[in-house]
Amino acid sequence: MISVSVLGCGWLGFSLAQALLNEGYFVKGSTTTLEKIPVLKKAGIFSLYLQVNGVVVGEGVEDFFKSQIVIITLPFRRDFLDPRDYQKQIRAIIFECEKSAQVKRVIFTSSTSVYPDQIGTALEDVAFSPDDNRGKVLREIEKELLGNTHFSSTIVRFAGLYGPKRKIGGFLAGKKELSGGNNRVNLIHRDDAVGIIAAIIRQGVGGEIFNGCSDIHPTRNELYTAAAKAMGLTVPEFCDEAETVSKIVSNEKVKKILGYKFIHPDPLQDVASPCEESRRDDVAI
Ligand SMILES: NC(=O)c1ccc[n+]([C@@H]2O[C@H](COP(=O)([O-])OP(=O)(O)OC[C@H]3O[C@@H](n4cnc5c(N)ncnc54)[C@H](OP(=O)(O)O)[C@@H]3O)[C@@H](O)[C@H]2O)c1
Repeated sequence: MISVSVLGCGWLGFSLAQALLNEGYFVKGSTTTLEKIPVLKKAGIFSLYLQVNGVVVGEGVEDFFKSQIVIITLPFRRDFLDPRDYQKQIRAIIFECEKSAQVKRVIFTSSTSVYPDQIGTALEDVAFSPDDNRGKVLREIEKELLGNTHFSSTIVRFAGLYGPKRKIGGFLAGKKELSGGNNRVNLIHRDDAVGIIAAIIRQGVGGEIFNGCSDIHPTRNELYTAAAKAMGLTVPEFCDEAETVSKIVSNEKVKKILGYKFIHPDPLQDVASPCEESRRDDVAI
């Protein structure tokens, strides 16, 4: 049986782990929260406490990395004082993957924030320079993973994730004179984020970068006005502005290479008629 280790059974990782269990994989999952261990165990996940800083610590580190596939869903926290702290964490994981004779494939959940804001259509295989240090560090990590000779890597650059317990928010409700109303929004539902990673594993794809973003890109004005209305809040007011170049994350590659068909192609539809709570809803994650 193929064994998959999900480093970080959080909001995305736990849902992914459950989907992989359903597909018949032996799934190991890590958390830094001891109370979550019984929840993960109950779901059928071989769960371990792991903490990653400059090194990976916890009982059973070796066991965790005895898997053919490792999925890294560690978040790049906005509160890192130095973005390189994230790089140190990922390097510690790479070190453990290299040490293990079993890890053949690594999947890393990156972010579309690597692309500059004014890029226009963001394609995976076109050269660009990130806008900020965070993006630069993330791009370096992607390159380090793809260049590793011990295992094959796949990078998935996710747009903003939404879904159960993370609804498209009414956070702009009631605000006035907002700019960027014509900018396009890049989002992906968790069901599709899970679906894309599961497809990558199933199809044995390696050495690629994929964008994970829905088909449709509503404007900020359209989406957050609809979200405020759906929540019964005061709609936001945007300034009249000419349409400017913004970032539109292309999902053509996942559709072409993986043949992936989106479950939630249009975030606006999920605001207008809130999608069903996930079929694999999480308990306390
Ligand atoms: N959220 C977005 O909109 C978005 C957009 C693009 C990309 N992404 C990427 O998608 C991935 C998943 O995001 P998410 O929202 O599911 O994150 P999340 O809910 O915060 O889950 C992260 C998981 O990583 C674990 N973790 C955090 N710090 C750790 C550390 N130092 N050592 C070991 N484990 C640690 C957490 O442990 P506990 O179980 O103890 O909490 C949790 O299981 C991340 O890589 C993120 O960068 C997210």
